Amino acid sequence: MRAHASPSFPRLSDTRRRYIHRALLRWYAQHGRDLPWRNSDDPYFVLISEYMLQQTQVARVLKHFPLWIKRFPTTAALARASRRAVLLAWSGLGYNRRALSLHAAAKEIMERHNGRIPSDIEALKALPGFGPYTAHAVTCFGYRHRVPIVDVNIRRVLSRLSRNMRETDAMLPEAEVWTLAASLLPPRAFYNWNQGLMDLGATICTARQPDCEHCPLSTECPSAGRLQSAPARSASVIRETPRRIYRGRVIEHLRHRPRHCDRADRLCILLFSSSDAVEQSRVLDILATLQNDGMIRATAGRRPVEDIGTFTDSLDMLHICLTD
Ligand code: ADE
Repeated sequence: MRAHASPSFPRLSDTRRRYIHRALLRWYAQHGRDLPWRNSDDPYFVLISEYMLQQTQVARVLKHFPLWIKRFPTTAALARASRRAVLLAWSGLGYNRRALSLHAAAKEIMERHNGRIPSDIEALKALPGFGPYTAHAVTCFGYRHRVPIVDVNIRRVLSRLSRNMRETDAMLPEAEVWTLAASLLPPRAFYNWNQGLMDLGATICTARQPDCEHCPLSTECPSAGRLQSAPARSASVIRETPRRIYRGRVIEHLRHRPRHCDRADRLCILLFSSSDAVEQSRVLDILATLQNDGMIRATAGRRPVEDIGTFTDSLDMLHICLTD
């Protein structure tokens, strides 16, 4: 077996482990970010913040989190709201499908868990939109259970701390990092440890420009001062606009329309500045995926259109509304 194959910190003595714990916890006490969902005793606050933070940056979540809590202060309030109200409130957070999964999760918590957010990781992972990260974060931050957490920041920090990583974008496989995270979890201060690792990854041990000079773990880190920037990706590749961008534009447009509705031909122009046959079939395709996900409903002459994918009339006949 190669010296580096084991998914643990092979040469980490108890003294060094304690040093690493102390150094990071001290740094976190001084430099940790003051975030409104931290140190909250309400698992709902933790659930909402972690759900939002899955794909949205902290600065943006900071703006939206208090508004959300005011609008839907409890799991019950969220579960009672209409899907339209939830989609409208999610404006600015991106990836609208997450808003509907969050709503479905709240309903499931009310129906299957008597309104109490589960603390058990397997029960959390069974909720819509919950992966291992969110389940572990709710368990640790919402219920103070001693479990490891791995998000992209923690994965980068632990990869660099356990091996001599040469390039800034190199990381160990995720499964290996979960094992590392579990092996390094302190016995008591695991809450601050997990939050501290996240902050270190977000502010010092960053993806592109790690600031090893100011890192509290640099003396223990085999990658410190050695990380080379990964070669830039070729700029000549012109990427197609991903479908999710178009989907997001449709939902954002409907959010601001009177009664949250508009005609499909106008949506076609909005997205593609043209409504030729190719663009018409593209817009129908995009609208069909949104309908499939329950984000919009469609009518033609007041009749519901059950499957936009099979719509063959003129686009100006097709009315699209945000879901009710
Ligand atoms: N990213 C995801 N969860 C976070 C948290 N609890 N604090 C800061 N950044 C995060």
